[in-house]
Amino acid sequence: MNTLILNKSDKLEIAARILENGGLVVSPTETVYGLCANALNEKAVESIFWAKGRPSDNPLIVHIASLDMLRDLVLEIPDDANKLINTFWPGPLTLIFKAKKDIIPNKTRANLDTVAIRFPANPIMLELIKISGLPLAAPSANTSGKPSPTNINRVIEDLSGKVDCIIDGGNSKIGIESTIIDVSDKRIKLLRPGFITLKMLEDTLKKTVYAPKNHFPIAPGMKYKHYAPNANLIIVDADSTQKVINRMHELIKEDMLENRKIGVLVVDEMLDFFENIPSLSLGSLQLLEDIASNLFEKLRQLDDLKLEKVYTIYLHDIGLAESIMNRLLKACNNQIIRLEDKK
Ligand code: TXA
Ligand code: MG
Repeated sequence: MNTLILNKSDKLEIAARILENGGLVVSPTETVYGLCANALNEKAVESIFWAKGRPSDNPLIVHIASLDMLRDLVLEIPDDANKLINTFWPGPLTLIFKAKKDIIPNKTRANLDTVAIRFPANPIMLELIKISGLPLAAPSANTSGKPSPTNINRVIEDLSGKVDCIIDGGNSKIGIESTIIDVSDKRIKLLRPGFITLKMLEDTLKKTVYAPKNHFPIAPGMKYKHYAPNANLIIVDADSTQKVINRMHELIKEDMLENRKIGVLVVDEMLDFFENIPSLSLGSLQLLEDIASNLFEKLRQLDDLKLEKVYTIYLHDIGLAESIMNRLLKACNNQIIRLEDKK
């Protein structure tokens, strides 16, 4: 299949027609690029799973551009959901509702009774939904298991020839996927942390939100291998940055004896200590927003460097740092070396 590439300034009518005809369009969103199809067309949704190589038991997020669209898709909008909608939509927050199962195909929901809905803030994505008049199912536009794409080059790497159209919207602003919160039940649950943090949600709802620990997969898609670079990525942690640097150097020395291709994925403040080693920076520790928006691209750049093993860091802050660590821990398959682990 030929993939049509559109630029920011191009008219979106062609892309909307493709969606109406059951095709696939990759659009930028404020979080990461999304692989879009008509959420109500079972065949179109099937091709999303095919293009990504995504397991069929992993449900999709449906993207809307008006509250009328929301009312068409869900059975009820609880009070708590309304509070979150008023505060955070349009924006990087996905809400789980009881689904109108006669309207939303099983494939979109992966047979669940619920559906994930997001009202994105990116103008291109909003325009696409409005012109097509369709709710759009859109997972991140990567091959399943790879880091989510935050620029069009990474989309092309994974999906060129598998989708009808890709729209270039520049670099994604936020860089990690939306926060997912389940409001379908009395007990409100955070399913995936993101740019909107637990504290922001609790401050809005004025109640406790149940938040499972990082390693416990609660959104169906969280149990799969995720964001994994080709190199073996391992976190090195200690109670000071200097100890992390020292420990990394010890580990690198041991690995060098075995002639391994080693690198580090650190922060600006640490780069000077790794001058002779292939190293990438996630950004400055002072700017967690930058680290979030760089993370997936840096994981992809590790692949470009063709390294075997890469040491990276643990961010101990709360809030956005926890959301970043949620993704980085998955990318590392939860491998952490702590200083006390030293034999
Ligand atoms: O920021 C985002 O959310 C991006 C952009 C493109 O909007 N999309 C995205 O989609 O991250 P995806 O498919 O990569 O992740 C969706 C997550 C999966 O972990 C899936 O299991 C979960 O949402 N999910 C979808 N429907 C669900 C439901 N009904 N109940 C619980 N989890 C659900
Ligand atoms: Mg994804």
